[in-house]
Amino acid sequence: MTRSFSKVGTKLTARSGILELMDDLGRAMTEWPDMLMLGGGNPAAVPAVQTLWRERMAELLADGPAFDRMLGNYDPPQGNPRFIKALAELLQREFDWAVAPRNIAVTNGGQSAFFFLFNLLAGEHSDGLRRKILLPLCPEYIGYADQGFAPEMFVACRPEITWLEPHIFKYRIDFPAVEAALRDGDIAAIAVSRPTNPTGNMLTDDEVRRLSALAAQHGIPLILDNAYGAPFPGVIFTDAKPFWEPHVIMTLSLSKLGLPGTRTSVVIGPPHIAEAIAAMTAIAGLANGNIGQQLVTPLIESGEILQLGPKILRPFYEEKSHAALAWVREAFADIEWAIHASEGAFFFWLCFRKLRIPTRELYERLKARKVLIVPGEYFFFGLAEDWEHSRQCLRLNFAQPEAVVREGLRIIAEEVARAS
Ligand SMILES: Cc1ncc(COP(=O)(O)O)c(C=O)c1O
Repeated sequence: MTRSFSKVGTKLTARSGILELMDDLGRAMTEWPDMLMLGGGNPAAVPAVQTLWRERMAELLADGPAFDRMLGNYDPPQGNPRFIKALAELLQREFDWAVAPRNIAVTNGGQSAFFFLFNLLAGEHSDGLRRKILLPLCPEYIGYADQGFAPEMFVACRPEITWLEPHIFKYRIDFPAVEAALRDGDIAAIAVSRPTNPTGNMLTDDEVRRLSALAAQHGIPLILDNAYGAPFPGVIFTDAKPFWEPHVIMTLSLSKLGLPGTRTSVVIGPPHIAEAIAAMTAIAGLANGNIGQQLVTPLIESGEILQLGPKILRPFYEEKSHAALAWVREAFADIEWAIHASEGAFFFWLCFRKLRIPTRELYERLKARKVLIVPGEYFFFGLAEDWEHSRQCLRLNFAQPEAVVREGLRIIAEEVARAS
């Protein structure tokens, strides 16, 4: 048998960062129980939400016909009509957004939503132009990096770095650079995660408004990835507001509400985009998994879903972030370090400017000592020029149990000292 794959096949089967990350995550959870797992993006086990989902599942089981319908039927490719109607009504009621069911499409997780969106919008068009996705703030989510069928799908801009206090910095969008990229390239859409994975940066309301205005001015969509953000799950530690306008494509996911196993996310955008996503779902997978939608529909109808962030998830993760920052200060007392301001999500983005090896190498050394992190290099795709900073950063999940985070930090400090 020949072992030749198509060009697309070869691209999608390359040893991508996201494959390595998810592989490490899966193995750490099953085959390597003694690994200190600071790598993946698994949400923490938050007791109050675990109880909520158990109760909802019990309700579904108790209602025999509803349970049978859930398991026994395909939903339309756009998603479950009752779920979609409830979500549109909630967004209209609470935020006064002009969202109707035709603006919404469900996908099997945000990762699939981005695979569809990027390949829908970027790549070669019938006018011969090769359009690209503009990432206005790099570093950006590792999971986007290898999603394009087309080569070099992304153009990314370096941020401005501002220091909030000694050791703590924040990336801000360099708007002149974004405007130049919009002028120079054939840009299909602007895309950002908010809060940003890997940094925990929460783009300010003003930054989002300016990006939206630029997108509108260029007649392209602004894609806002709210996997951790607003209106839900709401793992945000600032008072930044949810944002949507008719040319914005917003994605929401149930994963960080504690339901990654249900693989459920929602795309909210112009009707032709929602329609296109539903069409792609039909081709790629017939329909979406419907268990997640069934679990959360009553909470969307009642609006309770909007309270899970402020009442449960924000306090849980914010407290973890504060505690872990104190452990960072303690563990790194003798090395040179910096961290991005933790404004949401559950990652620390650490930067070691005196490191003499790339973090890719540091990752290997740490793995050999049973500590898993994600090396920063993977998050710097789409840049036109090399940037030393890209080899000095790493991402760490701070939402793990205290003993795991503290021991991991102690070993990281030792390895950074050895390599500085
Ligand atoms: C920024 C961001 N976007 C999208 C996703 C995809 O999540 P899911 O496919 O579980 O909805 C993730 C997962 O961690 C993420 O961090």
